[in-house]
Amino acid sequence: MNNKQTNLLSFDQHHVWHPYTSMSEPLPSYLVESAQGVVINLASGEKLVDGMASWWSVLHGYNHPRLNTALIEQSRKVSHVMFGGLTHEPAINLCKTLIEITPTPLQKVFLSDSGSVAVEIAIKMAFQYWISKGKTNKNKLLTVRNGYHGDTFATMAVSDPATGMHHMFEQVLHEHYFAPAPQTKINQPWQAQDTIALEKLFSENHQNIAAFIIEPIVQGTGGMRMYHPQYLKTCRALCTKYDVLFIADEIATGLGRTGKLFACEWADISPDIMCLGKTLTGGYITLAATLCTTDIAEVISNGEAGCFMHGPTFMGNPLACAVANASLSLLLEGHWQNQVAAIESYLSENLIPLSQHQRVNDTRVLGSIGVVETRQNVNMANIQKRFVELGVWIRPFGKLIYIMPPYVTTDEQLACLIQAINTVLNEDDCFIDE
Ligand SMILES: Cc1ncc(COP(=O)(O)O)c(C=O)c1O
Repeated sequence: MNNKQTNLLSFDQHHVWHPYTSMSEPLPSYLVESAQGVVINLASGEKLVDGMASWWSVLHGYNHPRLNTALIEQSRKVSHVMFGGLTHEPAINLCKTLIEITPTPLQKVFLSDSGSVAVEIAIKMAFQYWISKGKTNKNKLLTVRNGYHGDTFATMAVSDPATGMHHMFEQVLHEHYFAPAPQTKINQPWQAQDTIALEKLFSENHQNIAAFIIEPIVQGTGGMRMYHPQYLKTCRALCTKYDVLFIADEIATGLGRTGKLFACEWADISPDIMCLGKTLTGGYITLAATLCTTDIAEVISNGEAGCFMHGPTFMGNPLACAVANASLSLLLEGHWQNQVAAIESYLSENLIPLSQHQRVNDTRVLGSIGVVETRQNVNMANIQKRFVELGVWIRPFGKLIYIMPPYVTTDEQLACLIQAINTVLNEDDCFIDE
């Protein structure tokens, strides 16, 4: 590395806060020079096959000519303009596509800047809906353990109490209802007792519950758990029975990741509110959307406020919408189905057998998601360094070494990722003794 790069990293280490990272003892960060396709190029010269799709978001690969062109062309017209009182073609076209591809009852779209904000908006919609109906006692949410919905306060309050450290934020977080996490795995016979506790929470508390929120089919950050579609079907039925709004957080699962365009399709259900983010711009720029039914939009609009009480500065950013349109049109050309199916079949054949390793507790695959759950926690600093030395970008946490690569990843690149995982499994200093 040259002097400039060393200085950049030194400044970064002392002043730049990274996600879930200590400022007093920061783990090293690696300086990225560029990225192309599925490869991240480090300033130090290493080329890394990306197993993370930059946290689920990159679909078509980095530096994609069609996405680049959309961005450049839009920047020549208008990069940003306020959305209050003004509108534009990129946002209109995006909302049109989202309404077309999501379940039919979802007809209204609220654009925002990030996944956490999209969930905040969904929660606010649910509360404002019931307030507008005069049911002010519906002021709680119901969810399941092991969920993750973001890092802001409303989203943290419905994320897993243990991993979200609810005890630390006890004084400032709203208290909601938590059912046990779904237990029946997607590939197991359905166990009807799985929803008993959930049904009890619904039946005893529905008068206070505004909405039920869940990540459909895959609980991501809260454990990479893939659960049975019947669980989701039962959730939908309980919401309808007890007059509770159903919020599907498809921020990680939406747009093909699980092998269906939306994970709700596994259970053939339609939510009342759906959140999208991450993949929306193919991983280019931050953008999110919250979709809801006409009924929700009308009740809110006819309520006391006469409007939905939300309006971020960068709502409907034209650059983000233009890239999202280009990414969605690439996606809807249809190759994703074969691409995700090919990744799933490669991972099933080559990653699932890692379950034979003595260090491994479980392996699982769904769509383009592959998970190796280990018996010991990983040693983050050591395992990250080893992955970089082995030419891959994989960022595990806790006992989870997982990949969800861009859809354009080839078999050779998948082989690199799996080979690297296999290698670190044999290295004691990549794990912490308990
Ligand atoms: C299911 C789910 N919801 C919400 C979020 C929050 O999105 P963001 O990080 O864009 O705020 C995430 C992020 O990982 C997520 O996986």
